[in-house]
Amino acid sequence: MTGAIRKNFASDNIAPICPEVMQALQDANAGSAPAYGNDPWTEALTTQLQSVFNTPLTAFPVTTGTASNSLALSALVPPYGAVISDETAHIATDEGGAPEFFTHGARLLTLPSDDGRMNPDAFTDAIARNRDGGIHSSPIRALSLTQATEWGTVYHPEAIGELAAIAHENDMPVHLDGARLANALAHLNCHPAETTWQAGIDVLTFGATKNGAMAAEAVLFFDTPHGNRAKTDFQRRIKRSGHLWSKQRYLSAQILALVKTDLWLENARKANHAAQRLAHGLARHPGGHLPFETQSNEVFAVLPEPVVERLEQAGFLFYRWYTPPGMNGILIRLVTCYETEDADVDALLAAL
Ligand SMILES: Cc1ncc(COP(=O)(O)O)c(C=O)c1O
Repeated sequence: MTGAIRKNFASDNIAPICPEVMQALQDANAGSAPAYGNDPWTEALTTQLQSVFNTPLTAFPVTTGTASNSLALSALVPPYGAVISDETAHIATDEGGAPEFFTHGARLLTLPSDDGRMNPDAFTDAIARNRDGGIHSSPIRALSLTQATEWGTVYHPEAIGELAAIAHENDMPVHLDGARLANALAHLNCHPAETTWQAGIDVLTFGATKNGAMAAEAVLFFDTPHGNRAKTDFQRRIKRSGHLWSKQRYLSAQILALVKTDLWLENARKANHAAQRLAHGLARHPGGHLPFETQSNEVFAVLPEPVVERLEQAGFLFYRWYTPPGMNGILIRLVTCYETEDADVDALLAAL
């Protein structure tokens, strides 16, 4: 325990910058360095990410997940095309139309699922229906998956592989929104390559902000035919959107601080551990249940309204989520992060 109980379970974006990232920013703040990504931190970041993923790749740091996802998609689909994702995907629900804006009007098509993980049969069927529309439809030109998903579940590498194979058979690149990739990896306990390029991912939004950075994500293009094609002129897309930082060293230094050791995975493990503790406690509440298995750092629970109110009155912050018909109670979302302590979780469980 390091002090006051943290009552904020609203998001992993609420956490402060982790000390190692703060120190890296301080260390980077010495002397002059070449601008616009020609600095040693950006070079070291690329080298380090190649080692982490065990493959050649090209990395472009940007400040937000929305920019990272939207710019990545703009390199994958033409304005008359469509991107397909799960209906809960951040690109479809929480990016304020940025993917449509950056792609110059490409459509987002979404598929329903049981738990945020796309069903391969539904995907195959959607491709067939889309094709039937001929010239009148927006052709699906990219698949976008999210790992960990918006319901806190995690795709196994084989499941990603199956979906990516369908996409590739249909000449579609595959994008992965990895805002919480570290949490997924901490759960899977597999090599980062297995759930990304080896499974067929061409372009990855590599998340760092939720995992201890101040504001930094990176668009990674893997050494695949689609990845190599899409990265052409990507720096121009970043520039044109106003996202090319002249002092890029401060972006790269943040991500580098996380990936130069296993810190990014350690942070994710801590967040996942807190989520497991929370999930077990919530599931034990007589009136509650967990509609999805907790596999990362997001916990969804259905609790009776008076219990939710009690937690709110006790000062705990979390989101009341849209509760689908048939769920008896209120669906809430609680998110843990790298600095959530057992005592923070236990305080919430005690307030139940
Ligand atoms: C799955 C996912 N992708 C991307 C983002 C990035 O969003 P932002 O633009 O707020 O950094 C988020 C943030 O909540 C997210 O949950």
